[in-house]
Amino acid sequence: VADLLVTGTDTGVGKTVVAAALLLGLRARGVKAVGFKPAESGIEAGEAADSELLARASGLDEPLARPLLRLAEPLAPAVAADRAGLALDAEAVRARVAALREAGYRLVVEGAGGLAVPLAWGFTALDLAAAAGLSAIVVARAGLGTLNHVCLTAEALRARGVPLAGVVLNGRGDPPDLAEQTNPDVLSRLLPGVRVVVTPRTTGGALESARLLQPLLDVFL
Ligand SMILES: Nc1ncnc2c1ncn2[C@@H]1O[C@H](COP(=O)(O)OP(=O)(O)OP(=O)(O)O)[C@@H](O)[C@H]1O
Ligand SMILES: [Mg+2]
Repeated sequence: VADLLVTGTDTGVGKTVVAAALLLGLRARGVKAVGFKPAESGIEAGEAADSELLARASGLDEPLARPLLRLAEPLAPAVAADRAGLALDAEAVRARVAALREAGYRLVVEGAGGLAVPLAWGFTALDLAAAAGLSAIVVARAGLGTLNHVCLTAEALRARGVPLAGVVLNGRGDPPDLAEQTNPDVLSRLLPGVRVVVTPRTTGGALESARLLQPLLDVFL
């Protein structure tokens, strides 16, 4: 399996939970894996940052996997960086990926928001995936609206030659509503050959959710 980019159709769709679950699954298989979030924004005091959750799921604190940029304002990283008088160095991100690989890690990379969000000006998660040869897992909402978002994301990946390793329709209700019921089959029809996994809406914190989701996501490993 290639190194993975866990991307999403939006912010808040469950990328970190899914990335953490994949890391738990890799570790359970004895794979030396690490999560990497190059830039994070919207960091709130007293709340675990994505990079901290990924480090916990990875079971290690690897200095090379720490974010290159951490920003307080809840904005796209390039925008929050501008406002803080900072910038993410795209070349430095690519160098980190190379160094982590050199150190023998399997990578689970999380972008920010969706594929087209600027991490730096002229540098998106899609650019990183294309440059670093990552395969994408697309996390999406389970319900109404997701067909459009997932298909547009799949098309963007295809246009750049980034393999689509699978789609996660995250947080399906119990009982599922009509869109949640029909979306998995419809997506399989719209995206032939792409594996679609549905995960339930859980209670509890992010890591707890990751543990619950882990068995369902093992098909991607
Ligand atoms: N299947 C689920 N059931 C219930 N809650 C979930 C589920 N998946 C994620 N969550 C919760 O939803 C919130 C957003 O999830 P998460 O942080 O993984 O999203 P994200 O896509 O990484 O967001 P961001 O764009 O901010 O990085 C978190 O509080 C998380 O615990
Ligand atoms: Mg996240």
